[in-house]
Amino acid sequence: MKPFTKSATPPALSSLPSSGLEVRLASRPVGLPTLDHFEIVEAPVPVPAPGQVLVRNLFMSLDPGMLMLIAGRSPLPMPPYAVGEVMYGDAIGEVVASADPSLAEGELVVHRLGWREYAVAEAGAFRRVDKTAYPSPSLHLGFGLVAYVGLMDVAGLRPGDTVFVSSAAGATGSMAGQIARLKGAGRVIGSAGSADKVAYLTGKLGFDAAFDYHDGPVLDRLREAAPDGIDVYFDNVGGEQLRAAVEVMNVHGRIAVCGALNRQSTGRPDEGPGDLLNVLGKRLTIRGFTLWDHLNRAVEFGEQFRNWLREGSIVYDETVIDGLASAPQALLDLVHGRYTGKTVVRLMS
Ligand SMILES: NC(=O)c1ccc[n+]([C@@H]2O[C@H](COP(=O)([O-])OP(=O)(O)OC[C@H]3O[C@@H](n4cnc5c(N)ncnc54)[C@H](OP(=O)(O)O)[C@@H]3O)[C@@H](O)[C@H]2O)c1
Repeated sequence: MKPFTKSATPPALSSLPSSGLEVRLASRPVGLPTLDHFEIVEAPVPVPAPGQVLVRNLFMSLDPGMLMLIAGRSPLPMPPYAVGEVMYGDAIGEVVASADPSLAEGELVVHRLGWREYAVAEAGAFRRVDKTAYPSPSLHLGFGLVAYVGLMDVAGLRPGDTVFVSSAAGATGSMAGQIARLKGAGRVIGSAGSADKVAYLTGKLGFDAAFDYHDGPVLDRLREAAPDGIDVYFDNVGGEQLRAAVEVMNVHGRIAVCGALNRQSTGRPDEGPGDLLNVLGKRLTIRGFTLWDHLNRAVEFGEQFRNWLREGSIVYDETVIDGLASAPQALLDLVHGRYTGKTVVRLMS
């Protein structure tokens, strides 16, 4: 991965362009959006008022959850995108003008004002991060913390557990499978949507077994991969994979519901976990979670993650899409399985 070599001196405000791109939700779709539901607009670069800072965004995260904010009827604990307004999402950028003493020009900050090249807001909307922490600032947008808290705090991973991870070649899944192994899982199984991704899981990421969920009934594939049952299911998907996992779970098994890709990629409601007698009889726990309830683990996780990267014991892959104008198509491609690892958009270099 290319090291981050940005100059320590940000451009003076007078040297900044007068306008930058932003992406607005043009209209609310029924079901999945198409490119017509997005509007790419050239907007003036704002001058920060007292207490505000202006940030030049370098990278933004793409997350399938954004499709639910576009749909507008999301049960997620965050506001849906408003029609006609700029969308939002995780981003990292460089402070280029500051009218608040808490943040200086040149600092690197993470924040929620993605989908725009230039972001202005009160200083409190931005969190300073260490410029030297990672070889690229985009790694600050990774979903390793989601995987970590899902396994450790929500599913209560124990040494020797057999762990199943769906969408295992994606941003969260690739972290969940590897972190499960690093934290003592006995056997790690992954599912993904192509033969190449299956080979990537067992080859590069070190999963013990993997299968393509398109290859016949998931229940059969999962039983083959987990002949002794599964103790922890890290669920990114819902749908058929969740129902198969409930069948194959061992007594006192724990399911951490992280995502809903089955719903996000089709726009249709999920049919749920299947026969609840399995949940009763095997005394299963099915627990949904969002990262926002677990941010207290960020510092501890960051230290572990940087150690694993330094030691070479974890693989972190990214798909980098260039240019904000490419982001709407990339979001649609993301949920249709086009990418591997964490998908980010590079807004400026
Ligand atoms: N709880 C939280 O706080 C939290 C935080 C971040 C993300 N999430 C959620 O976690 C999930 C994973 O997010 P991510 O960013 O890591 O996405 P991702 O796995 O990197 O990418 C999306 C993937 O979805 C897969 N996919 C599409 N339809 C599918 C289906 N029906 N069954 C299985 N896989 C399907 C595709 O891969 P294939 O080729 O394998 O089909 C695609 O690569 C999302 O639901 C996201 O919203 C939750």
